[in-house]
Amino acid sequence: MSVERIPFGLMPDGRKVYKYIITNNNEYSVHILTLGATLNSFIAKDKNGENLDVLLGFDSVEDYLELSDYQGATVGPVANRIGGASFDIGAKHYELVANEKDVTCLHSGGEFSFALWNAVVVDSDAVEFGYTSPDGQGGFPGETSVKVIFSLKDDNKLTIKYEAVSDRDTFINLTNHAYFNLKGYGNGTILDHTMQINAEKYTPVDEMSIPYGRNDSVEGTPFDFRKPVMIGDRIDDDNEQLNFTGGFDHNFCVSGEIGELRPCAETFCAESGIKMNVYTTLPGVQFYAGNFLNGTAGKKGVPMEKRSGFCLETQYYPDTPNKPDFPQCFFKAGEKYESETVYGFHTAGGSDNAQ
Ligand code: BGC
Repeated sequence: MSVERIPFGLMPDGRKVYKYIITNNNEYSVHILTLGATLNSFIAKDKNGENLDVLLGFDSVEDYLELSDYQGATVGPVANRIGGASFDIGAKHYELVANEKDVTCLHSGGEFSFALWNAVVVDSDAVEFGYTSPDGQGGFPGETSVKVIFSLKDDNKLTIKYEAVSDRDTFINLTNHAYFNLKGYGNGTILDHTMQINAEKYTPVDEMSIPYGRNDSVEGTPFDFRKPVMIGDRIDDDNEQLNFTGGFDHNFCVSGEIGELRPCAETFCAESGIKMNVYTTLPGVQFYAGNFLNGTAGKKGVPMEKRSGFCLETQYYPDTPNKPDFPQCFFKAGEKYESETVYGFHTAGGSDNAQ
């Protein structure tokens, strides 16, 4: 078990960016940048015992700042989309950065994802990242202090714990935007992975990817992942929801009790033998199949082609600030936001069951 810190580059204003590497006793490792508290690489073992990097990403600060589609980034203060880029708190109306088609606020305009975070090693297997968002940044009320603690233990589970507190009443919805490829980055698409999601319901969206505000049953739809399904078998089904989003890019309502760490999803790749189990305390998970990736060159110059990575972004549902019937992510001044998400890795043979 060890933590190493190495220089990664410089911000445009000259501040230093570092990479922290946590390595466990099975030689699995996670590489995390102080730029965006970003997961840069995760090295797992395939069924032949070879190292595979299962995360998409870039090799330089410049590429992250210029080319990123949020690869591995921490997202906040409010992840996913906010319709009309605005919300109300009491009698006050807040206008937010409208960074998608000048209409929608997506991932808060990237504030947390492209900021420089502080980092401190808190254990032989854990690093804590911290960032304070100024009041009014991106239109969001409150000076909000955030902590994200990454740890990697010998059970090959990457745990991410989030905490945040603001000095004003505000909305908080944090996630990580890792794109995984369990065949290894650069080894083709994720269409041959099987996906299982522990959800009876999902939140259908309009043409702008904003939820209507209702939870629909997955029964009889391409969104039924209660049993493992090969992603490629359904992603191009002629279905209005899939046509709106160009493939899976939807929030699922994770079954079980919100606040409890419970199974969320399980993804398996037969070629590598790697299985990933996701657990979360949060109400939902965005399964995004990398439909908008378009060949941008990432680590070692390898292109990130359409659907060459998938995201399981644990979260409050999209547009929660404008959807009173969704589980709420409103926090009073001084009230603490807390959540936990775990990504557990196994290689053929070992298993947790997401059901
Ligand atoms: C969204 C996608 C978007 C991607 C990159 C995901 O969370 O669901 O629609 O393309 O983030 O911004």
